Amino acid sequence: METLLVFGGSGLLGGKVAALARESFQVVATYTRTKPRHPGINFVELPKENVEEGMVLVRKTKPSAVIDAEAMDDVDRCEEERDLAWQVNAGSTGSLARVATDIGARYLFVSTDFVFDGTKGGYREQDVPRPVNHFGETKLAGEHAVLAATADHLVARPGLLYGWDDTYLNFATWVLSSARDGTPIDVATDWIASPTFADSLAAGVLELLKVRDGGVYHLAGADGMSRYDFAVRLVKAFGLDPETVRPVRAAELHLKAPRPANASLSSAKAKRHRIAVLPVDEGIAAMKEQRSLDSFVPPAGFKSGVSG
Ligand SMILES: NC(=O)c1ccc[n+]([C@@H]2O[C@H](COP(=O)([O-])OP(=O)(O)OC[C@H]3O[C@@H](n4cnc5c(N)ncnc54)[C@H](OP(=O)(O)O)[C@@H]3O)[C@@H](O)[C@H]2O)c1
Repeated sequence: METLLVFGGSGLLGGKVAALARESFQVVATYTRTKPRHPGINFVELPKENVEEGMVLVRKTKPSAVIDAEAMDDVDRCEEERDLAWQVNAGSTGSLARVATDIGARYLFVSTDFVFDGTKGGYREQDVPRPVNHFGETKLAGEHAVLAATADHLVARPGLLYGWDDTYLNFATWVLSSARDGTPIDVATDWIASPTFADSLAAGVLELLKVRDGGVYHLAGADGMSRYDFAVRLVKAFGLDPETVRPVRAAELHLKAPRPANASLSSAKAKRHRIAVLPVDEGIAAMKEQRSLDSFVPPAGFKSGVSG
């Protein structure tokens, strides 16, 4: 059986990729702070900034492919710890992708819609990225480093991720657990993105590994919408009171880093390869099928940047 190496196996997406890939690969996955408890996956503690160790791990495990879903993705913290953000998201990414090239493994880097400035929305792969914050700059540099290592490598850009995760709250689980508890939350009406169901994205990422042409692929849900509209849809679908979600302008949230106003993505290129992430209503319905909200205990770990 071939080996798949997943950087960021403790994250929302990385955990789902690692779990799903067990069906067809021997999976080795890294974590930084929290060791996940999925059976059948060999978890290794390795923060991505320890790049020498990461390079050794790639050589040692000899994977046929590497999925890099690890990032310093706290957008506001990236403004303050600029060098660390650069090292994790760009420097280490390039070094790991070059080792993958040396051993003949395909490298798939999970990037972000935040590479765009958000003035237009509906972005396609050929649109020119123009990040408005340091996080976006570092991820764009990571993309360039991966594709410089060989044009056969892959970059997948999702939008706002959502799905069940017992390790960290994400936007959707924050909205749902707040509504369940009757806690009002302020959510921006003027940040638009393409919500991306993490389970569906995980399957898409594994499919993308089979596509012959390297390069950039947008992999997001088809509907662009404001965070507020997404939050209201979620709450209504789970039979909760939408009044707990209070509409605000993003400026009222007083966040450190600017965000792209409309970073929605067109994923038509991936669709031509028969790869698609579920539309929002179907993704929310799948979440409901998977688990009841009653059984969800909000984890203490809260990813900053989730709110709003
Ligand atoms: N979340 C979104 O809405 C969104 C939107 C667009 C693109 N993306 C991209 O999609 C990918 C997966 O996102 P996700 O939401 O699944 O991520 P996540 O749940 O935040 O997980 C990120 C992973 O990176 C590790 N990590 C976090 N901070 C780190 C640091 N400072 N140094 C080294 N490792 C660190 C985490 O390890 P520990 O948990 O063990 O510390 C975890 O394994 C990322 O590349 C992200 O940029 C996410």
